[in-house]
Amino acid sequence: MSKKLKFFIIAGARPNFMKVAPIIQQIRSYSSDAANHGTELEYRLIHTGQHYDEKMSDIFFADLGIPEPDINLAVGSGSHAVQTANIMTKFEPICEQEKPDWVVVVGDVNSTMACTLVCSKLGIKVAHVEAGLRSFDRSMPEEVNRLVTDALADLLLTPSADANDNLKREGIPETKIKLVGNVMIDSLVANLEKARASSILSRLELEKKKFIFVTLHRPSNVDNQTGLFSVIKVLGLIAKDMPVVFPMHPRTRKMCEQFNILLDGVKGLRIVEPLSYHDSLCLTESARFILTDSGGLQEESTYFKTPCLTLRPNTERPVTIEVGTNKLTTLDQLLPDIEEILQERRPAGQIPKYWDGRAAQRVLNALLENSGLENGNPGNLGQYPSVGKSIDPLPFCVKK
Ligand code: UD1
Repeated sequence: MSKKLKFFIIAGARPNFMKVAPIIQQIRSYSSDAANHGTELEYRLIHTGQHYDEKMSDIFFADLGIPEPDINLAVGSGSHAVQTANIMTKFEPICEQEKPDWVVVVGDVNSTMACTLVCSKLGIKVAHVEAGLRSFDRSMPEEVNRLVTDALADLLLTPSADANDNLKREGIPETKIKLVGNVMIDSLVANLEKARASSILSRLELEKKKFIFVTLHRPSNVDNQTGLFSVIKVLGLIAKDMPVVFPMHPRTRKMCEQFNILLDGVKGLRIVEPLSYHDSLCLTESARFILTDSGGLQEESTYFKTPCLTLRPNTERPVTIEVGTNKLTTLDQLLPDIEEILQERRPAGQIPKYWDGRAAQRVLNALLENSGLENGNPGNLGQYPSVGKSIDPLPFCVKK
């Protein structure tokens, strides 16, 4: 039976880009596979413009070989309500005009929730990739985004078994839930060679396993003066013993400026601009340990088995603690936790199930199965290939 399916793939903020890259690649592989004659897959990549700086967006498209977005909503920054509303009002007419069969949203950022809300009211099916993660902390904007997105989505594609349990507990029917694994790890695996070829270690004059990699940007860590001042002070202390590399998110830099926190002149503390994807992966693999509040780094460090300290009271990614190398910490507990790592008293980690470079293949199979296409041709799709070279746009993808 001949069938055509149209997907919208939504990306808005930095952590979305490595999640959509392997999904786009799978759609393209499927379409170019002669064995799938009769089923045409069409997609539009829609960038909401939530992140817009070259170093927060464009550089990831280049590193990941993601084609130019077909549509950029260019919403930019704003309060949560303003940003969410802008995405919704700009996205709705596109949905009405193009009538996609599925809208694929990833992660937990404002763009994820805004696009889901629009589709839910228009009766367009939504697939949420990275569904079911819960920090059980509604003071985090991402937790609200996760709850709303999962309550409304038609297909919930989860990265780990705990996510399935969370969704079932919330009363979501099992038929809508599918464990597919971690698409972010697909990108990691595909880009490993390029990450290892990165010159970032020599550019920053670092030696493997002799530096600490820090990223902190969550409102809970950087949006109040006393807290942010304490963070920078502790980093200064740590940097006396081992170099600390801190690629600073624009939000953190803005808050440091606002609170008059001086970043220059602390020995060993290297504050640098946000890194490219390959440079970031290289530092994640090479660091002695990582201090972060990022969801993505908790996962990437788990894959590399690099010890990770997460400066948060909770995590929506408990599997990185249960089987991985992650541990939650506080500013008070940080120095003993670091000592524990340096004395190698932390247990060795494992890689969770389905964090194997083939999650996007399972995502596409689930989409096909839930579109009445029984045979998603799972055997032939293969692993997301190493990219870096740009992928040519498909002929039916109209550039805007
Ligand atoms: C967003 C996500 C967060 C994710 C993070 C990764 C939500 C609610 N939060 O947080 O889950 O971990 O992305 O980076 O969606 N800014 C720039 N240039 C940019 C983007 C942002 O300067 O390209 C600055 C602006 O001052 C902006 C601030 O950063 O107001 C915050 O950006 P925003 O997209 O609101 O949230 P993030 O903190 O980046």
